[in-house]
Amino acid sequence: MRKEDLDEIQINNLISIAQKARTMAYAPYSNYTVGAALLAKNGSVFTGCNIENAAYSPTNCAERTAFFKAVSEGVREFDAIAVVGGPRDVEIPTAATPCGVCRQVMMEFCDPEEFLVVLSDEVMTLKEILPLGFGPSNLEIRD
Ligand code: THU
Repeated sequence: MRKEDLDEIQINNLISIAQKARTMAYAPYSNYTVGAALLAKNGSVFTGCNIENAAYSPTNCAERTAFFKAVSEGVREFDAIAVVGGPRDVEIPTAATPCGVCRQVMMEFCDPEEFLVVLSDEVMTLKEILPLGFGPSNLEIRD
């Protein structure tokens, strides 16, 4: 969707859903808690939080949790995601900018020019946060 098509009410709604999802974060190692709210084209919203692991690398970010929940339920078309994060004891979090791995997961399912990433005070396209991204279209076979 275009930035102007995501109105202030939708933005605030997604941010507040992400804030609620953040309370579910399992982050005993970093104590940095993140919440995400992923808006699907069908209007449903999938939430996610970060889920850490004692072995560290199996940690899943909030954004990927939301994407994997949606895809595992048959939903693959998305308009926007809101992400909030901060140290556990900071109740009003600032924006958590998605890590590179999460940007790549977004690239798998979203049109980079159309998918919107809602940070606390700005809305950006996936292309703006992942220029020259490699995605499924790069693997299309051409003659
Ligand atoms: N994290 C997220 O969940 N999303 C982000 O956008 C940035 C980082 C998590 C991973 C880890 O559990 C913690 O935040 C600190 O990096």
